[in-house]
Amino acid sequence: MKNLSILLKSLSLMVCLVALSSFVSAQDQKPCAAWEIPAKYKAMKNTLKGDAASVNVGKNLYAKHCKSCHGGAGLGDGPKASSMKTKIGSFKDAKFQAQVDGALYYQIFVGRDEMPNFEKKLAEEDDRWALVNFVRSLK
Ligand code: HEC
Repeated sequence: MKNLSILLKSLSLMVCLVALSSFVSAQDQKPCAAWEIPAKYKAMKNTLKGDAASVNVGKNLYAKHCKSCHGGAGLGDGPKASSMKTKIGSFKDAKFQAQVDGALYYQIFVGRDEMPNFEKKLAEEDDRWALVNFVRSLK
């Protein structure tokens, strides 16, 4: 019994330490700054309709490439989010959704800093716009 109580005590200590360390790292994250979107990207037109078929293609690509950081519902709470130096924003944010499609395209495929560049991994234009359409559907 004594061993069990020691085990339980050390387990709860470990849980506390893990909780504390994720709290500290989340506190250290810098807020994400406004993006400078080049005019060329702002002017880009979405070549797909935001219909169910394209949203579905985007959803699968998102699960594979984006969910680990941005989270299933796009809240910025994927398993890797807390290890980022920059706090990931939510795709539900009204200001984020108010941007034109070309701005989202730039952020997703060109990226910056910890937001990876996806131009090579997602080379097909149709896949790219499907992903933009899926991110739109998360609002
Ligand atoms: C390794 C983690 C990681 C992955 C994978 C990732 N992102 Fe990001 N993403 C980030 C971070 C961190 C930022 C904030 C970067 C900044 O503000 O400098 C970001 C920013 C963004 C932004 C700009 C809006 C914002 O919140 O700043 C969009 C849009 C975006 N990501 C979409 C995607 C999509 C779509 C994918 C998949 C194709 C993806 N990301 C994959 C980490 C990731």
